[in-house]
Amino acid sequence: MCHEDADGAFGRQSASPDSPSRRAFSRLLLAGTGLAALSACTPAQPFTPSGTPGSTPEPTPGTGGATPTAAAAPSNSPASTPSAPPTPATSSAVPPSATARPPSATAPGPKHSLSDPTSPWVIVNKHRPLSPATFVPPDLVRPAVRLATSGEAALLNSTTAAAAERMFAAAAAEGVIITLASGYRSFATQTATYGSYVNSRGRAEADTASARPGYSEHQTGWAFDIGDGSGADAFTPQFKDRPAAIWAKANAHRFGFVVRYPWMLHQITGYFYEPWHLRFIGIEAATDMKSRGIGTLEQYFGLEAAPAYL
Ligand code: DAL
Ligand code: ZN
Repeated sequence: MCHEDADGAFGRQSASPDSPSRRAFSRLLLAGTGLAALSACTPAQPFTPSGTPGSTPEPTPGTGGATPTAAAAPSNSPASTPSAPPTPATSSAVPPSATARPPSATAPGPKHSLSDPTSPWVIVNKHRPLSPATFVPPDLVRPAVRLATSGEAALLNSTTAAAAERMFAAAAAEGVIITLASGYRSFATQTATYGSYVNSRGRAEADTASARPGYSEHQTGWAFDIGDGSGADAFTPQFKDRPAAIWAKANAHRFGFVVRYPWMLHQITGYFYEPWHLRFIGIEAATDMKSRGIGTLEQYFGLEAAPAYL
């Protein structure tokens, strides 16, 4: 089953679990899934290589610079372990070229660029396109994990691949099967994916679920979508209740990952809840974010919210 391009959902998130808009959100998510499956099988691929509708919204992080207003071969590369603690979340925006700094002079450490797409801390959102727009990770590899996709979508950068291998193995050891549903996407693939959403639902709704070409984390190689071993509920709101999603939400930080688009934080991230989309930032930073209850990379690195394109 193709899942290469399945990575988003349509609709609105409101604070009320029973609101009409949330029911519409659920319907649209399901519709989006069908669209995604359709778009996943399009030939435009240059490579061959807690909270859904009806449940309690995720807690809002206690800190941050923005507040939501609405409710191949196995990778043998050792995973780098970005260790420098990031800047505490503040309300001030960081210039696009800035590099994250440790929180105090007593905690020096390596710094990671927020703009370089080869950096584990690169921030890609609706205000921060990839540069260059057609960036291709130089170290794409196919991780030795259970795949629910093929071709370029089965690739990740080498660091992310190694971390994914460890995470998927740890989950399996606990009886939870996670699959790699969609990894790397080239600029061309993202163009096709986003175009499919636009053709189906229009640009406004497409922008809540799918990044425009040059604006997707998938193009960096640092992000991927997971599926459940059962194959059920892929890319739907119900996925958050699948063992893979529950396990990942609780444990992904131990392997350097965060759930990039949390529930109800779309006014910051620009996208509705994607319990399947994981992003590598390193174990220390991911664990720090979780322990501090910070939900988004924008808040963690003191960046402005990016709810819409500039
Ligand atoms: N669904 C995420 C936002 C993407 O298209 O990259
Ligand atoms: Zn994704």
